Amino acid sequence: MGSTILIGVLLLFAVCSHASITPCRLPSFELNPTSPTNAKQFPRLDNVTDDMTVDDAERMNRDWSVNDAKYMVASTCQYEGERIPYGWCRHKGLKASGKYKLAFIGNSYVSNHATMLYQECADKANSMLQGSAYGCEPLYPSDKDPECIANFTDFEVHIRDEKPDYAFILTRYISIGDPFPAGVTTFDEDPIYQTMKEQMLKFISNIKYKLYIMDAFPRVNQPMVHQIGRLMKEKEDPVKIDKEQRHPTKDKYTKMNGKLFAGKIPDQLQISEMMKKSGKKSVELLKIDIEGGEFTGLEPFIKEYPVCQIFVEIHGTPAKHLEMLQTIAKYKFRIFNVDLNPFCRHCCEYSFINEKCMEQFDVTPLDIMIP
Ligand SMILES: *[C@@H]1O[C@H](CO)[C@@H](O)[C@H](O)[C@H]1NC(C)=O
Ligand SMILES: *[C@@H]1O[C@H](CO)[C@@H](O)[C@H](O)[C@H]1NC(C)=O
Repeated sequence: MGSTILIGVLLLFAVCSHASITPCRLPSFELNPTSPTNAKQFPRLDNVTDDMTVDDAERMNRDWSVNDAKYMVASTCQYEGERIPYGWCRHKGLKASGKYKLAFIGNSYVSNHATMLYQECADKANSMLQGSAYGCEPLYPSDKDPECIANFTDFEVHIRDEKPDYAFILTRYISIGDPFPAGVTTFDEDPIYQTMKEQMLKFISNIKYKLYIMDAFPRVNQPMVHQIGRLMKEKEDPVKIDKEQRHPTKDKYTKMNGKLFAGKIPDQLQISEMMKKSGKKSVELLKIDIEGGEFTGLEPFIKEYPVCQIFVEIHGTPAKHLEMLQTIAKYKFRIFNVDLNPFCRHCCEYSFINEKCMEQFDVTPLDIMIP
């Protein structure tokens, strides 16, 4: 999950360096960051300065992406398990005179920021506990994944045992960003909200002063990230860059003579509806990544229209993947490639070709792989 996200985060730092995460500079720490007596004792991990250029930002952004995995391991942290940089660790080298007992919990973002957290907080802490669970959140077990359910309890147990003065959750929007389930209209009826609330109450009853929840991470449009540098050099307004993140897609479609349709599949928009509007009768390549909409949207389409190749990202449990693969196989598709998506623990990219198109694409069929 690391590098894509960091690309965006780092560039944002460059655009407005005050947006960086500096938990130990929060008001309750009574720290004035501009006062010379409070000047940092450490250089900034990200090396961001006020006078850096866009080229500096791009170079550093690249460096962060390339070295992401390496930077996640904090040399100051004593790791318990073997899945370094995940699991639990305690930062070393703290002074007993440090004022606070701190805990940092969350998904892999905690590891991403571990060294920075140490740099920012070590001089104020007598203890720093860190718990990082890959793809799993402390406030709700992400996608109800069994490992995340175990981690969810683990977070609670550790905070209960630790009883920190301050705790920080570094979190994301997996599951907790989901819309209300069907038929639910209020938070009181929403099971995700109820679970989050219950867990939060457990946390705060074991935290002396305050729990901070930091979910202010930008949700970046990955291809657009590579344009930010150029746009900044062209003196484009950063707010406008932010708003226009989606324009490059539109431009590309226009150049390809394509049409852009927007809507939720299949409730507001059906794939066959787009076909009708395009005036075409068959599809050579169908590329589809619709966040679970494939379960309801794909079959009606391939039933109705001839499609030669499908490239689809399937989202969900292994059983859901198999179910979808079997559905697609019913329409004489054969699988020819599978790729993991390193940024999504429940996703896989599958490529299929229809038996009818094998000759056209010079394909030699091997075995039937999907039962
Ligand atoms: C920051 O600068 C130091 C010293 O030049 C260097 O060792 C480190 O790798 C740099 N870190 C990043 C993230 O660029
Ligand atoms: C999350 O679960 C994994 C697998 O059981 C474990 O190795 C890891 O230590 C747990 N992480 C946290 C922060 O509890």
